[in-house]
Amino acid sequence: MNQIDERIQAAFAAVPREKFLPRKQRRHAGENRPLLIGHEQTNSQPTTVRQMLQMLDPRTGHRVLDVGSGSGWTSALLGHLVGPTGVVYGVELIPELADMARRNLTAAAQHWVSVHQAEIGVLGAPSQAPFDRILVSAEATSLPAALVDQLDRRARMVIPVSGRLSVVERDEAGSVAVRRVGHYSFVPLK
Ligand SMILES: C[S@@+](CC[C@H](N)C(=O)[O-])C[C@H]1O[C@@H](n2cnc3c(N)ncnc32)[C@H](O)[C@@H]1O
Repeated sequence: MNQIDERIQAAFAAVPREKFLPRKQRRHAGENRPLLIGHEQTNSQPTTVRQMLQMLDPRTGHRVLDVGSGSGWTSALLGHLVGPTGVVYGVELIPELADMARRNLTAAAQHWVSVHQAEIGVLGAPSQAPFDRILVSAEATSLPAALVDQLDRRARMVIPVSGRLSVVERDEAGSVAVRRVGHYSFVPLK
């Protein structure tokens, strides 16, 4: 296991999925599939979350945007990975889920992690940009320029686009490169 795998393993152990699920779904927490969290949205499949975090490679002290916080699970996992010197800024479109994420995150007691209601017509959090890392847990039909614009230099985004994961990297000079990997299915990015 390499260093990033070990760090992700430790984050999964420290942030149990069941604490982010509605009561009646908790007994399914160990199953490797997406689970319903209400409002036709899901807590993502654990192996997919793990792969996305491996590709994202969030480091201690990073400033991270989590688009589609849903249950708050990915925000808390990111919170563990960046630690108290970092920042995790979650945005969620559905107000009831943003509330649920905030309630779920209370127990994690990570003061550097917050979840905000997404502004209608505003993708991500341009007022908080730039970010070192952006994780998107809902699928776009094309790569959103508005999110690429929120990446800092030497920064990375992982986003599902039309059934595949795009790993978007902005280098020191500001150039952007995109690599597409795997085959995945996500709820739509709205
Ligand atoms: C797969 S689910 C959530 C997974 C989540 N990361 C978790 O750990 O539970 C994706 C979420 O993205 C949200 N979403 C969709 N479009 C969005 C947008 N433009 N801004 C913010 N959230 C969005 C949905 O409401 C949904 O809750």
